[in-house]
Amino acid sequence: MLGFDHFELKGANVLYSTTDTIDEALKLGNLKSGETLCDLGSSWGEVLIRGAERFDAFGDGYEWSPGLVLESRQNAKQKGLDNMLRFHCKDLFQADLTEVDLVYIFLSPMYHSKLRRKFKEELKKTARIVTIKFPIKQWTEYKRAELDVPIFLYKMDKLLRTRPFKY
Ligand SMILES: C[S@@+](CC[C@H](N)C(=O)[O-])C[C@H]1O[C@@H](n2cnc3c(N)ncnc32)[C@H](O)[C@@H]1O
Repeated sequence: MLGFDHFELKGANVLYSTTDTIDEALKLGNLKSGETLCDLGSSWGEVLIRGAERFDAFGDGYEWSPGLVLESRQNAKQKGLDNMLRFHCKDLFQADLTEVDLVYIFLSPMYHSKLRRKFKEELKKTARIVTIKFPIKQWTEYKRAELDVPIFLYKMDKLLRTRPFKY
């Protein structure tokens, strides 16, 4: 799948989050009503749809496959959530993270060093990040959960307190 190199493709059994994983990750990230959830690599929109349905959260998804973005928009509309969710057909590195409360990623670790820099530059101090399966290298997680895959939680305020800050 796009975004995974050959090594990680062999190592990943599933390339999307199950409903249980999504629910657990959003709970771990303490997603609250009215907050903004951002899924970087949003596929067909399930993470944001779950965030709106279960947690009453707004959502922004970034996905570079036009077909998946179209499907996401249709899925959101069918559920009457299109007023809460936006799906952008864009490279995820073009995402604007300045108003985001919780970032959700299930992405190859090859993206992590560039993402660490983006998170540090754009995210609010109160923002959290959850990552499925792959921990963010060089950062210490705040908490983790174990389902069929591990889920890691990072909190920007805790990371920013570390000196020197590790990109
Ligand atoms: C492993 S799937 C995860 C999907 C969803 N977030 C989930 O957890 O079920 C990764 C998604 O990221 C998308 N993706 C990978 N690299 C991307 C990039 N640079 N820009 C936008 N989307 C990307 C892929 O097309 C794929 O839909």
